[in-house]
Amino acid sequence: MSLGGGGKSGKRSTKKAAAPRKDNVNAVSNLLQPTGITVAEYGRRRRRLMDGLDNDAVALVPGAQIRLRNGDTAYPFRQDSNFIYLTGFSEPQALLVLLPERSQGESILFCREREPRAERYDGERLGPERAASALNLDDAFPWEDMDEILPGLIEGRRRIYFPLGSDADFDRRVLGWVHSLRTRIGADALPQCEFVDIGHLLHDLRLVKSPAELRLMRQAASISAAAHCQAMQACRPGLTEADLEAELLYSFRRGGAREAAYESIVAAGENACTLHYVRNSDPLRTGDLVLIDAGCEYLGYAADITRTFPASGKFTDLQRDLYELVLAAQHAAIDSARPGRHFNAPHEAAARILTEGLKDLKLLEGDLDELVATEAARRFCMHKTSHWLGLDVHDVGDYRVGEAWRELEPGMVLTVEPGLYFPPELADVPDAFKGIGIRIEDDVVVTRGEPEVLTGGVPKSVHAIEALMAEAR
Ligand code: GLY
Ligand code: MN
Ligand code: MN
Repeated sequence: MSLGGGGKSGKRSTKKAAAPRKDNVNAVSNLLQPTGITVAEYGRRRRRLMDGLDNDAVALVPGAQIRLRNGDTAYPFRQDSNFIYLTGFSEPQALLVLLPERSQGESILFCREREPRAERYDGERLGPERAASALNLDDAFPWEDMDEILPGLIEGRRRIYFPLGSDADFDRRVLGWVHSLRTRIGADALPQCEFVDIGHLLHDLRLVKSPAELRLMRQAASISAAAHCQAMQACRPGLTEADLEAELLYSFRRGGAREAAYESIVAAGENACTLHYVRNSDPLRTGDLVLIDAGCEYLGYAADITRTFPASGKFTDLQRDLYELVLAAQHAAIDSARPGRHFNAPHEAAARILTEGLKDLKLLEGDLDELVATEAARRFCMHKTSHWLGLDVHDVGDYRVGEAWRELEPGMVLTVEPGLYFPPELADVPDAFKGIGIRIEDDVVVTRGEPEVLTGGVPKSVHAIEALMAEAR
């Protein structure tokens, strides 16, 4: 069956896509949420993805589903990152179908139909009649007609690319469409067809950011940096971790970011040694270091910043020495984020400096190269130094090519976040170290020249942190 043959063609939108619009902000009144990315760029992304597919392939990229929190109350809806990367469309119940070289249209969207009663509750929908031209796609159909139309679209396509194994319901749905096609045309007539995970191809595209994406990431970083400054300046012994979290969230929202990119970590004293501490409710005491790991999501893009500072506004001598060791490791790591170096180069640079410092502090003993080779510093820094950053805070993209670490290229964005942690249970560590946890994290763009630090708006030298905190006292 070809598209429309057995489908409800009466409900179809205009057959031919409108000319690309310069941007989607005002495309259909205010129905499309601004994304900061032009519809032309979304089109280029779909084209590049299709260029990586064979002509007898089909790609199915589903949007996210609404998830219930309890009863009939949903979690805040967040569109799927792959889907938003290819469409900029933020409504739930949507599916993008890409059919390279299909004469009746290569890019097709299924989306919710207009429904006045539902729209009175949840706001206006774009609807299939307007979606194709607003989003510069070839065609759009109602979500409800998907099971009827989809088998016809995949007929004759030998490879079905989709996020295989990401969502059991969607996996079942794809199998259902193939099954229905078999039933319709007969198993013998159905050419052999393979399921392929679309992740690898799509994630490679997402890994290298465009100039427009970098503009959004700079904005996410700058809103997040301002929020960290605000929290540092608000910090006083006697307040609680929750007070500082409130400052962060308030700043994100005031800065134009709808929400945090991940649950904020505000960890005073030994809570900082719990890497994913999110209870954020303990008091801030004089003498504590406070570790804040927080970043906003701005128009879909994440920032991820960690700063560690003294609750009192002044580092003790030991805190400063340890802090400056982590900072030296971080500087060396950032300097390694250059084209031609590999993904693990920043981690290796940081690990060497931390190991050297831990040896000077007599917390590690032995030959430096041997200690580095055996990753002895992992005892005090259990996590890696970097991850990709983008639409997801731990963004997509392979870290290795085969056995080898991936080479860094201009446009890749990664975090650089070395740390040192001395949890109280470490038996052979002097008491003065116990309960100290320090991490310093910035977001870095690999460029042809110097690495671009997106998150430089929040200070990180001892002097600059103390000066910023003193201003507010
Ligand atoms: N905030 C999560 C991370 O630093 O990886
Ligand atoms: Mn991170
Ligand atoms: Mn972080």
